[in-house]
Amino acid sequence: TERTFMMIKPDGVKRAKIGEIIRRIENKGYHITKMKMVLPDETLLAQHYAEHVGKSFYPSLLRYMTSGPVIAMVGEGTNIVAGWRTLMGTTNPTKAAPGTIRCDLGREWDVEAMMNIVHGSDSVEAAEREIALWFDED
Ligand code: GTP
Ligand code: MG
Repeated sequence: TERTFMMIKPDGVKRAKIGEIIRRIENKGYHITKMKMVLPDETLLAQHYAEHVGKSFYPSLLRYMTSGPVIAMVGEGTNIVAGWRTLMGTTNPTKAAPGTIRCDLGREWDVEAMMNIVHGSDSVEAAEREIALWFDED
C-alpha cells in the first residue's frame, strides 16, 4: 500500500486539534504507522521546504513552523497521497472547501504566515523523501 508523510503544524498542536485530526485520518481508514512530536529546526525545514527556500514568504513560513512542536506521522492506505491532500483541503484555509481540515479547523489567514494546520506530501516521490528526512531510521 501507498505511504505518505503527514504533519500537524504548530497551530494545530497549540489549538488542541491533534485528536480531531487523528480521528479524521482514522475514520477515513488510513493507518498511522509512525508518529512523533518534534520541534523542527531551520536545517530540517530548509530540506523539507527546499522548493520554497528563497521565496518571499519563506522567512514567515520558517517563523511559523518553528513557533512550536509539530506532530510528524507516516500514514498508509490506498491512494493516501492524494486522499490526504483531499482531506486537508486547499493551501489557503480561507478558500478551502467545507468538510476539509483546513476549512473546518482553520483560522483566518494570519497577517504574515499562511497558517493552515496540516501538511501532506504532494507526490509519492515527495512522500518517500519526506519520510526519510523526518524518520531517519528509513
Ligand atoms: P504543505 O502541505 O505545507 O506543503 O502545503 P501545500 O502543499 O498546500 O502548499 P505549498 O507547498 O505550496 O506551501 C507550503 C506552505 O507555505 C503552505 O502550507 C503555507 O503555510 C505557506 N505558503 C504557501 N504559499 C504561501 C503564500 O503565498 N504566502 C504565505 N504567507 N505563505 C505561503
Ligand atoms: Mg507542499
